[in-house]
Amino acid sequence: MKSYSMEAMDSTFRDKSALITGGLGFIGSNLARRLVNFGASVTLVDSLIPEYGGNLFNIADIEDKVRVNISDVRDKYSMKYLVQGQDYLFNLAGQTSHMDSMQDPFTDLEINAKAQLLILEACRKYNPGIKSVFASTRQIYGKPDYLPVDEKHPLRPVDVNGINKMAGEWYHLLYNNVYGIRACVLRLTNTYGPRMRVKDARQMFLGFWIRLLIEGNPIQVYGDGTQVRDFNYVDDVVEAFLLAAASDKANGEVFNLGADDPICLRDLAELLVELNGRGEYCLVPFPSERKAIDIGNYYTDYSRIRSVLGWRPTMPLREGLTRTLTYYHNLHNKYQ
Ligand SMILES: NC(=O)c1ccc[n+]([C@@H]2O[C@H](COP(=O)([O-])OP(=O)(O)OC[C@H]3O[C@@H](n4cnc5c(N)ncnc54)[C@H](O)[C@@H]3O)[C@@H](O)[C@H]2O)c1
Repeated sequence: MKSYSMEAMDSTFRDKSALITGGLGFIGSNLARRLVNFGASVTLVDSLIPEYGGNLFNIADIEDKVRVNISDVRDKYSMKYLVQGQDYLFNLAGQTSHMDSMQDPFTDLEINAKAQLLILEACRKYNPGIKSVFASTRQIYGKPDYLPVDEKHPLRPVDVNGINKMAGEWYHLLYNNVYGIRACVLRLTNTYGPRMRVKDARQMFLGFWIRLLIEGNPIQVYGDGTQVRDFNYVDDVVEAFLLAAASDKANGEVFNLGADDPICLRDLAELLVELNGRGEYCLVPFPSERKAIDIGNYYTDYSRIRSVLGWRPTMPLREGLTRTLTYYHNLHNKYQ
């Protein structure tokens, strides 16, 4: 049962304007759909860089209900124009690949750190009344000292992406604390569902696993597959963004998102094969460059957002994976 009122959410966003950076991507486009349903006026900004998760098909059913601006969040003139007049900023544009951040650290720095500062400067100068929610990541904790990981856990990123996302979130907190530009941070764990990138593992390995399964190829699980992770269905994550935007209790705060049913990767692969009705998985040696930035076991303590904002994940893993498989069985060709 959900602990928040749909009517309250509806009246919060009705006739309000919202800018979603990374709005053609996986989570951003699912969020856009919810905001449109609430009657918000929604603008999406996305660069559509092919290696990232942006895809115009993600908004095919709402394209006449949103404004789309194909530009780059590194462009200060675009951002100056785009933040003006907005009530809410959902700041999701990002370079998401951990491996790419190691191979091309400066692009990751530009997008995940410098551009975040640029966006906040645009807000400070042209729209200080905006409320923003920043999409951060559990990656910034690095290898956990203890499980489940709460927000007090030390931050020790194991890759360039983690360091830059950490900077991105601290810029938001700083602008909240120093300039009063209301901002909060959600640290997402692995998020999955319809509209995720499945072409490769740049966004998340699970997307690529789904592609392999649908194309009749074995899923490759690295190592012995005993690494534990938790997974949130995208609708639950969207709900967290909406709650964080709607509540002033979130201002200046950092919240973990997580799930109640952590699972090891081998069991996850087995479950996917079972739900798909066919397919197989195999264990393969960990590629050394991936092993070097692996975080071992991780799952989240999300009690903070539960007590402050009333958020909790509602989608069981089996049901969420089934819905995701159905989506890609039908629409895989739109995500090649
Ligand atoms: N999906 C997850 O499991 C997960 C986990 C932790 C954090 N996050 C964070 O959530 C956010 C959204 O992730 P997602 O899973 O929807 O990935 P995504 O790749 O689908 O979305 C990111 C979007 O940002 C756009 N983008 C990238 N660089 C840009 C730029 N310079 N200018 C404009 N647009 C740009 C991409 O085109 C893409 O559409 C990201 O910031 C990511 O770091 C996601």
